[in-house]
Amino acid sequence: ILLLGFFLSLDTLSNTSLYYFNYIYCNIWEGECQPHQDDATQQVPTRDFWAGFPQDYTELLYRWYCNLGQCCESGDCRVTNNITGLAHDLQNKLHGQHLAQPVVLKAIQGFINHPESNKPLTLSFHGWSGTGKNFVARMVADNLYRDGVKSECVRLFIAPFHFHHARMVDTYKGQLRDAIRDTVLRCSQTLFIFDEAEKLHPGLIDAIKPYMAHYDNVDGVNYRKAIFLFLSNIGGAAINDVALDFWHSGQNREDIGMEDLEHRLRTETMEAQGGFSKSELMSGHLIDFFVPFLPLEYRHIKLCAKDAFAARGLETDEATLDEVAKAMLYIPKEERLFSAQGCKSIPQRINFFLP
Ligand SMILES: *[C@@H]1O[C@H](CO)[C@@H](O)[C@H](O)[C@H]1NC(C)=O
Repeated sequence: ILLLGFFLSLDTLSNTSLYYFNYIYCNIWEGECQPHQDDATQQVPTRDFWAGFPQDYTELLYRWYCNLGQCCESGDCRVTNNITGLAHDLQNKLHGQHLAQPVVLKAIQGFINHPESNKPLTLSFHGWSGTGKNFVARMVADNLYRDGVKSECVRLFIAPFHFHHARMVDTYKGQLRDAIRDTVLRCSQTLFIFDEAEKLHPGLIDAIKPYMAHYDNVDGVNYRKAIFLFLSNIGGAAINDVALDFWHSGQNREDIGMEDLEHRLRTETMEAQGGFSKSELMSGHLIDFFVPFLPLEYRHIKLCAKDAFAARGLETDEATLDEVAKAMLYIPKEERLFSAQGCKSIPQRINFFLP
């Protein structure tokens, strides 16, 4: 026991110990399973090494280690990859996005179920603010990682915040490359979110482009297990036009198909100002999926309001939901069809309607 204690105090915080414990777990509780560990350079302790420890102690040790929340079946407790949870959230918490919902789910599910994929997954979310782009990015982080966006495997970059000064673009380039590289080295599966991507400097896009291409590795690091999400309002006007056209011609919003949008989205994206749209990212087929977010209508605002009340444990009636929804601004001027802010400020707004 003393010897174990010594061993632990020396080694508990290092990755190596995680590796050893996964190894014990695999040998003792799971028969011959391969310990999950992507860094092949680490030494595998032989069975003989552990033969010296009585099994009772190793079990004790393992239990203790698991109590600290450091072990799990996947081998990396930071990665949860809960596809059921993601499907549930997209189905129940996201309103009015019949296009985004299946595209995001299938893309992420396909990527996770096919670890042999030869390139990172890149998704580009398009639409007005408040339509759910950030919301979905958060859902993805929450269901794929134990600690959500706070996970050390997830990096969120907000273009105007993190890369504010155009003259510092060279510094930013280095910082961004380092951040991506560090995260990929630290985690078996990573998620990079670029919010307000329309404001990304072209130089920054060029800097990260190699990571998204079909290369096996860049400077010896493998980036294929990374997910890149770009959130922008590029194409928002085109999406809104299509939705409005459908409404004018008496067609269902739910009948809007990807084919109705994709072409206009690509065209508007190419014509838009700024680095993101001008970059080869768009033209060079590095984006796997364009994900359109439709503008939200009155009925969707009511659903968001209902969720916001429910999140505070409050039941509401239709009349209150109508009041909340009526207090929003709707555009265009004549039709008053789409909420100008989407569902963005609903959680704050319901304060005014609380008893
Ligand atoms: C996945 O998410 C669902 C729904 O949020 C939840 O009920 C379930 O416990 C989660 N599964 C795991 C393994 O975390």
